[in-house]
Formats: sequence, structure tokens, C-alpha cells
Amino acid sequence: MLLAFHKESRQSRYHSLSPNAHVELEEPLLEDGTRRPTSRRHSILATVTFVSVFLNFFLLTWCAISWASLRPPSSRDNATIPTLYSPANSEVAYNLQTFTRGAEDDLPIYERPPSDEVDKAWFDLHRIAPSALHEDEAAMLPNSTWAVKGNRDQYIVSLDVFHQLHCLDTLRQYSHRNYYDQTRQPSIEHIRHCIGAIRQALMCASDVTPVVWQWNIEKKKAEERDDVVHVCRDFGRIRQWAEGRWMESLKKEDFEVYALPGEGVSASQSALFMSYTSSCIYP
Ligand SMILES: *[C@@H]1O[C@H](CO)[C@@H](O)[C@H](O)[C@H]1NC(C)=O
Ligand SMILES: *[C@@H]1O[C@H](CO)[C@@H](O)[C@H](O)[C@H]1NC(C)=O
Repeated sequence: MLLAFHKESRQSRYHSLSPNAHVELEEPLLEDGTRRPTSRRHSILATVTFVSVFLNFFLLTWCAISWASLRPPSSRDNATIPTLYSPANSEVAYNLQTFTRGAEDDLPIYERPPSDEVDKAWFDLHRIAPSALHEDEAAMLPNSTWAVKGNRDQYIVSLDVFHQLHCLDTLRQYSHRNYYDQTRQPSIEHIRHCIGAIRQALMCASDVTPVVWQWNIEKKKAEERDDVVHVCRDFGRIRQWAEGRWMESLKKEDFEVYALPGEGVSASQSALFMSYTSSCIYP
């Protein structure tokens, strides 16, 4: 529609400048002898030029406004946002959530002292991690993955949010290591890996929600409050996707079956899918 409109306005400008347009405009003037052809021709030319200039100005303004409003805020200075394929991309939805403090009387189950109930709550956050992909989906992953026992419907992935939550649970258990069974304690290598995974996840998300300071009457001082409103990805929806794909019966031995590439379980074609958005293309 935009292009059609642009063409139309360009055509009207061409009419005013092309010799053919002059011939068309002169014909009625020759039959009508009462007016001087040149001044009539000039006034029509002026009108056509004015309309053409007006249309072009309107078009450019409209294009500039729509270009500015269509660009996502995060790419204000950049016309491009890189995106990568994920089989769960379609499940990404946003909502507003007020964070909890994890202190005083605002203590969700996850932040309470260790117990069977707390352990179960944490395990429920990440136990559905291994998800099954079909070969076609696996082929679109930017990094290749492996098919359990060479089965085309059993390419295994897990969404990083569940891996990151598993890592945080590991750190939580480590911080209560007097409570937990000595045999279940993670190695220092695993702890380092988990700190790195969570650090990168936080930096990757770079949450710019402002944490605020508010006056505390009892303490007689301003204190930092992070129980503020955030724009969040809907975790429940992503968890639901993972539940539907859950490879529940996966066993340790399943990872010890090697299937050669090229026998139905070839490593997927690694490809980076970059999408470039550009909302106003000038001809
Ligand atoms: C666009 O993004 C790149 C990195 O993604 C950055 O180096 C560059 O400065 C950005 N351009 C502008 C105009 O902000
Ligand atoms: C994933 O892909 C990136 C980019 O090609 C590459 O640098 C990285 O080593 C890959 N990792 C794995 C585990 O395949």
C-alpha cells in the first residue's frame, strides 16, 4: 500500500514535467479560444506541482512516523535485532510481575529453610527439562544436538531456563550443605559451572528494571526495595511447553548408545538465523 501510494505521487510529479502531459493539457485550451493558453497551462501546472509536492511531503512524513513507531524500543539505535531459532519461540509471552523480597514475611517456598517440601518445589521448577524434538526441528537449531538411540523423534534438548534453575538449586543445596546428604553434594567443578551459567544468564538478560529506595519509618533510613514490577516472560507457559515434550523415561544408559552421523541421526545443519527488520524501504 505504501509503495503504491508512493508510485502514485511520483507519477503525478512526472505528469507535470513530461512533455506528454503538456500536450494533454493543451488540447482543451485550443478549443476554448476565450482564454490565453499559457496562463491556463501555468495554473494547471502549478496546481499539479503543488498537489505532487504535498503528496510527497505527506508520504515522507507518514513513512518516517511509521518507521519510528514500528521499530522495537530495544533497537532504537539499530535497525537490526539478531534472533535465533528455538522450538519454543512461539511460547514466549510477556506479563507484569511484582518480585518478592525473600525476606521477613515475604518468603516464598523457594527461599525457606530446607525441607522435603522446599526440595520438591525446586525440583518441580526444573525436573521437566529434557525435551524431545523431531529431526526437522533439530535441523533448525543453531548448534547441533544428538538423537537418543538414533530415534528421529528423540532429538534431545533442554531449554536453558531449566538448566539455569537446576544450577541455582545446586547452589542452594550447597549453601545448606550441613542439611543435605554428604553423598549428594556437588563437586566444586559443578559449583563453578553453575555460577558461570547463572552469571551469563543474568548478564544476557540485563534486566533494566529500576530497584528503588524507600523510607523505612521503623529503621529511620531509606532502604533498597527490589519488590518492584518487572516485565517478565511467562514462565508457566514455557514450562507447559516443556511438560508436553518431556522425555520422562530418559535413562543414564540412553546416553551411552552411539549412532553414527549419516545413519538417520546426522548432526543437524548448523545455521544461524538472523532476521533483519526494516519497515520502510524506499524504491
Ligand atoms: C548497533 O549494534 C552494535 C552491536 O550489536 C553496536 O556495536 C553499534 O554501536 C550499534 N549501533 C548504534 C548506532 O547504536
Ligand atoms: C555453538 O555454535 C557456536 C557458533 O557457531 C560455536 O562457537 C560453539 O562452539 C558451538 N557450541 C557447540 C557446543 O556446538
